[in-house]
Amino acid sequence: MTHRLAVLISGTGSNLQAIIDAIANRQLDARIALVISNKPGVAGLDKAAAAGIPTAVFRHLDYPDRETFDRAMARALDAVSPDTVVLAGFMRILSPWFVKRYEGRLVNIHPSLLPRYPGLNTHQRALDAGDKEHGCSIHFVNDDLDGGPIIAQYRISVDANDSERTLSERVQTAEHQLYPKVLQWRAEARLLLSATGVILDDAPLPPTGRLFPQT
Ligand code: GRF
Repeated sequence: MTHRLAVLISGTGSNLQAIIDAIANRQLDARIALVISNKPGVAGLDKAAAAGIPTAVFRHLDYPDRETFDRAMARALDAVSPDTVVLAGFMRILSPWFVKRYEGRLVNIHPSLLPRYPGLNTHQRALDAGDKEHGCSIHFVNDDLDGGPIIAQYRISVDANDSERTLSERVQTAEHQLYPKVLQWRAEARLLLSATGVILDDAPLPPTGRLFPQT
């Protein structure tokens, strides 16, 4: 059975597009069953529609609290039985109820080398700290914001003349390579979350996850 993805977005959807392209290029053996946005009218919804993927919008402002919103999304998700729920620029914190329901099949991409810089403004914070390395991380989601077990990181070097814009562009390019790779591991049933941490090919990964680019 083809691995079924559901992708949650809030905006541009360039990671969503990278996943769509990887599927079209046969680098990723999966199907996107549903794209959900918490914001109407965002470009990511157009990208999904252009690829013929069903979309749904759940406006968080229409719900009295976080968990009620999450339960509405979960009803739509469960109707398509996703094997992996992919957070791709989804800018809402999920309730413990939602995290528990999709435990082990809920992944997020974050634009920093976690555990450095959870939260926002990661590129500027890396520049301000004078970091020589920056990048992105993909992790299983738990109740700690951007703090779940790390699956993979893509590292890039920071140049002396980098700005927030140039850095964010290179990190995004890395994101677009990394997400399809990790999702292919899921599609091949090689990647799972155990009580002790992340398991890839029957072996535990180190706390940084698998490092890219591979040397
Ligand atoms: C990415 O940089 C991702 O790391 C962060 O939000 C951004 C989403 O970009 N969580 P896009 O919508 O995929 O273009």
